[in-house]
Amino acid sequence: MSKKLVILGIESSCDDTSAAILQGKKILSNITANQEVHALYGGVVPELASRAHQQNIIPVVDTAIKEANIKKENIDAIAFTQGPGLLGSLLVGSSFAKSCAMGMGIPLIAINHMQAHILAHFIDEGKPVPKFPFLCLTVSGGHTQIVKIISHTNMQVIGTTIDDAAGEAFDKSAKLLKLPYPGGPLIDKYAKNGNIHAFKFGKPKVKELDFSFSGLKTSILYKIQNNIQKNPNFIEENLEDLCASIQHSIITILLEKLKKAINKTGIKEIAIAGGVSANSYLRNELQKLAKEKDYTLYIPKFEYCTDNAAMIAISGYFKYLKKDFADQSETSLASLSF
Ligand code: KG4
Ligand code: ZN
Repeated sequence: MSKKLVILGIESSCDDTSAAILQGKKILSNITANQEVHALYGGVVPELASRAHQQNIIPVVDTAIKEANIKKENIDAIAFTQGPGLLGSLLVGSSFAKSCAMGMGIPLIAINHMQAHILAHFIDEGKPVPKFPFLCLTVSGGHTQIVKIISHTNMQVIGTTIDDAAGEAFDKSAKLLKLPYPGGPLIDKYAKNGNIHAFKFGKPKVKELDFSFSGLKTSILYKIQNNIQKNPNFIEENLEDLCASIQHSIITILLEKLKKAINKTGIKEIAIAGGVSANSYLRNELQKLAKEKDYTLYIPKFEYCTDNAAMIAISGYFKYLKKDFADQSETSLASLSF
């Protein structure tokens, strides 16, 4: 039997520096260094992110190779995130990947971060994987998309946000509730004991399969401001109900559009991906819906929801099979469509 491909994946699009080793379609290691520095500022500071990537990248790659228990010489190709993301952050990962590939004389593979979130479903975990064509609701801090996946390398965005992303809606709402960044996981946590119907917020009206979250954010801001005038402890006294109601509003917007996409395309193989796909309410509501409507649902492991290099490595695998390699002149791109 021929030797299984070994790919080093490198992800540095935002505030996580990550490296993974993939052998065949199995992950041998997936190491991520989170950047604590941004918590002080209530959001990612791009310049600080690039500097932290520079400090983290060598130890992270080194640990990934050691943990995978392979030798550097065993690596067949290096896959890196080309975009979309913060330009300075992307440049750290791409420069590192390019120099390693050149030094080691192995192919370089440029990966689209949003496609990689989806392709994480194909990491071999001994579980069924989505069948083509399938729909994926890709929800992260920077993007909200409904994607029709025709093959590993052929995908179409059929719905997207016209303003904020779903993760941004979580994080900005959390900021209004005085919760630290990133607020999505904290809203998820406090919402567990709250009443989803305690507060009502404005609902967007956007055509077709597109999304909008900026109106919701304004509606939440006004609700909080008006109530704080009457009761300065409004947030503290209602935190769980506020989190549950905000989360319910965001997830309802996502689910309504996903249902519309399913009806429109007739596709019943459904996946979710991206940081917000870690949300427990989204997962539960989707599971109920899938059971009721007989959809086949694919939910990624938690570690493959938020940014990670395992998803970059598996995307590299599919491009390697097509010999779709990048050269040293490939540039990092802050915005990159499919
Ligand atoms: O995919 P990701 O790690 O990075 C980007 O590519 O943007 O997504 C990060 C986003 C953040 O907005 C974060 O608040 C959100 O995912 N997030 C969550 C949860 N875990 C992460 N949002 C809601 N509930 C969660 N459990
Ligand atoms: Zn991401």
